[in-house]
Amino acid sequence: MGHSNQKPLHACDLSVEEKILLLAGRDFWNTNSLGGKVFEANLSDGPVGVRKPFPDEKGELHDLPSIAYPSAEVLAQTWDPALARLTGECVADDCIEKGVDILLGPGVNLKRTPMCGRNFEYFSEDPLLAGVFGREYIAGAENRGVGTSLKHFCANNREYGRLYISSEVDERTLRELYLVPFEIACEANPSTVMCSYNLVNGVRMSEHAKLYRILRSFWREDGAIVSDWGAVKDRVASLKAGLDLEMPFSEESASALKTAYEKGEISDSDLDECVERLLSLLYKLQERRGKRKVLRTREERLSSAEKVAEEGIVLLKNTGVLPIRNGASVSVTGEETNRYFAGGGSARVIPDGEISTLSEALSALLPKSEIVSADVVSQGKMDAYRLSYGKDVAIVVCGSEDGEGSDRPSMALSENDVRFILETAKNNKNTVVVLRCGAAVDVSAWENRVAAIVSAGYGGQRGNEALAAVLTGKVDAAGRLAETWANGREEYLSENAYRDHNVSLYEEGLRVGYRDFDLRPEAVRYPFGFGLSYAEFSFSDLKVSREKGGAKVTLKVKNISKRAGSEVVQIYVREAEPCVFRPYKELKAFEKVRLAAGEEREITVFLPRRAFSYYSTAEDGWRVHAGTFEVLACKNARDEMLKATIDME
Ligand code: GLC
Repeated sequence: MGHSNQKPLHACDLSVEEKILLLAGRDFWNTNSLGGKVFEANLSDGPVGVRKPFPDEKGELHDLPSIAYPSAEVLAQTWDPALARLTGECVADDCIEKGVDILLGPGVNLKRTPMCGRNFEYFSEDPLLAGVFGREYIAGAENRGVGTSLKHFCANNREYGRLYISSEVDERTLRELYLVPFEIACEANPSTVMCSYNLVNGVRMSEHAKLYRILRSFWREDGAIVSDWGAVKDRVASLKAGLDLEMPFSEESASALKTAYEKGEISDSDLDECVERLLSLLYKLQERRGKRKVLRTREERLSSAEKVAEEGIVLLKNTGVLPIRNGASVSVTGEETNRYFAGGGSARVIPDGEISTLSEALSALLPKSEIVSADVVSQGKMDAYRLSYGKDVAIVVCGSEDGEGSDRPSMALSENDVRFILETAKNNKNTVVVLRCGAAVDVSAWENRVAAIVSAGYGGQRGNEALAAVLTGKVDAAGRLAETWANGREEYLSENAYRDHNVSLYEEGLRVGYRDFDLRPEAVRYPFGFGLSYAEFSFSDLKVSREKGGAKVTLKVKNISKRAGSEVVQIYVREAEPCVFRPYKELKAFEKVRLAAGEEREITVFLPRRAFSYYSTAEDGWRVHAGTFEVLACKNARDEMLKATIDME
């Protein structure tokens, strides 16, 4: 687009050939500038850091080292949307430094099953939590002048067969579960939405005119939809459906469009609708490119990544061995093998700096402690076992690297890890297991043998500093699970649902995560929203009153312990006498509070009318069924602390 003061071009200023070229990327990561006539936008992954592949002298693409932020799983476990916005802002700064116009993220697909290989890249099993975190991440980046690509639209909930399987989802489940994260995230007006590879109800998502209409109805009519890389199989059908930008460039698609145009199968208006959406996106990006400036220094961004990692660590079990006191003797095993996991595939980031080990980070915080470490791989099992003998605390770090393109082989740890945990726990009653995994873990084989369990996830470049801060009590254990940890993969209805080489039947409907496990609490090891704190909190004075457009909820939270800490107040709504199947309760608001010892705070949340409604397929819209509703103030999906009722009509 040459000079920005030039009159903006429109479809009528372009030839048919130019329109066809514009609707496809120039190459793998850039849009087509039509010889400088329009702005060329650079697109790059990914939600946990900027990949920005660059060609070497042979033209081979290599990823640039970049700041590696905690995974979306860890970010969501902070239950603090401000940290999602902060992450969006920091990754945007990295994009500005590297000349990226559109960051390919965030991913808001629901965690329908714990086996999905990309769950580390997604936020939650709950649509509200996933949507809010997606929205705030987008707001952070877009406000810094960097476009985002909300992905993967939609019902792309496992990696197995993602390129060709049809997710068969009924209308109500689509509306109440799988579309909601996109609907909430679109409140932040992402520059683009990325369609997924899979089919939904028999139609490929790169050609899904119906779902594009629904998407644009809650996003914006001129929202530019980009394909996932290689997701377009029929460019003519995708154009007609309203898919604007195919990535990466495909010669075959360009000629298919040309032929279809010449045969009159596609019209000028078919082309122009997509061209106009793309031109307005490119103008917006061009304008931003000239104005945007880096806000935070690299160190400030790294500190932000560390803060997120700290806040997203979940303490699942603690018999009192944590926090570790200064002067305690500590052994650490498994830290080398599990030093840094980020999840594989397009979200992988090459950290642009040294990664400290956990023992190094612990030594910095426990100067009086003897801290020894051994790695099973480097020093062999026996040395590693012996290491834990007689120590005050024996830390065992275990993990697994999940990744795009395949699902997790198991929900449990490897046999080696389990054997190692059991062996260490036999020698040391104060064994602490740290999990560096990308999703829920089946801990049933060893959970009752150890003194503490910490889910640290993929913590990013400063993950071990963050972990040491939590293990030593420098900061409170502030994370809460954003997905249910059941007793095994067979407990999840989605794992028993029908699926073959072509179809994945979402026969569990709305019964995903706690929406199902509330009916079967015995199947749950650690509930949705669960996490221990070093502090202790009481809830009181829950009040619910009708307000214009919904209801106001107030309650008091008090830190009744002797140390500062964080609590996450979770507000669920339950319809007492529904006229359709409704989950026992659903998360409708949440707030993280950080309180000093003895401090009490009143919190207020507003529940819009939508928080009480269900999607009525009989009436094609959201509907509140008049009657009594319970509002539950909870610490997690299992621990309901206070309850109040309200009548809605
Ligand atoms: C991948 C992923 C998508 C990524 C894109 C570009 O296949 O599904 O998340 O942004 O291609 O790497």
